[in-house]
Amino acid sequence: RAIGTYDTFFHNYTEIKNGEKVPKDEMCPICLTLLLEPADVDIPKKSRSSSMPLDVVCALKKCSHIFHMVCIGTMLDSTPNMKVNELSISCPICQTIHGVKTGDQPVNGTMLVTREGSSVPGYEGYGTIKIRYGFHHGVSETGTKYNAAGFPRVCYVPDCPEGKTVLELLNLAWKRRLIFTIGTSVTTGCPNCVVWNNIHHKTEPHSNTSGHGFPDPNFLKNIKMELAVQGVTEEELK
Ligand code: APR
Ligand code: ZN
Repeated sequence: RAIGTYDTFFHNYTEIKNGEKVPKDEMCPICLTLLLEPADVDIPKKSRSSSMPLDVVCALKKCSHIFHMVCIGTMLDSTPNMKVNELSISCPICQTIHGVKTGDQPVNGTMLVTREGSSVPGYEGYGTIKIRYGFHHGVSETGTKYNAAGFPRVCYVPDCPEGKTVLELLNLAWKRRLIFTIGTSVTTGCPNCVVWNNIHHKTEPHSNTSGHGFPDPNFLKNIKMELAVQGVTEEELK
């Protein structure tokens, strides 16, 4: 059956349910029609999901939530980066990311990692990982002119075992263009600016006047959770 461009996505991240395996009396949470009946969706002719069958049902592999395949297809139609191996959706029921989520962080940036002997409060004796992010103003793929204010930004991660893992996760998030986004800065009001994308970094190594400093016993746990929301997990590092 032709599912076209989304073939790899469905192969990797979903499992087809048919016959006995389609739950009776259960509705597709996307189109609110019984799973045993064809999907009730309006699909624009030009979209990639328009060639998909309406009656196939599948489960997302990681969370096992069940939908019409074409209903997942319509979600994929609105993925920002349309490269085949950068497709992703967040499960409409539990938000688990399926696929590789990528963002719109400008491509002209730099992420430079160095090590320091001195430690941050709460992680005495470990030394510190120092990350320097750099961006310049530019134009995005979609034609948006953006500014880059307040760069370079220097951030600190304790160089303990868990901190080393966080650095690997941050490297992956950087490659997937998820650490910054283009938007309006809450603190400066600057529109179309390169801004943090909900992965909270520490920019104050030895104090905490901004709320983004040390000590913070929950920092590593919290940043791992924020990375996981973007689909960047330790499982993905393997
Ligand atoms: N350090 C780390 N994170 C920060 C900081 C900071 N000094 N200030 C704000 N954030 C967090 C906020 O908690 C918020 O969740 O970034 C998120 C986005 O806030 P914006 O103000 O929209 O972010 P942005 O404009 O990118 O940055 C604000 O952060 O690193 C500094 O110098 C930078 O002044 C800038 C500030
Ligand atoms: Zn459906």
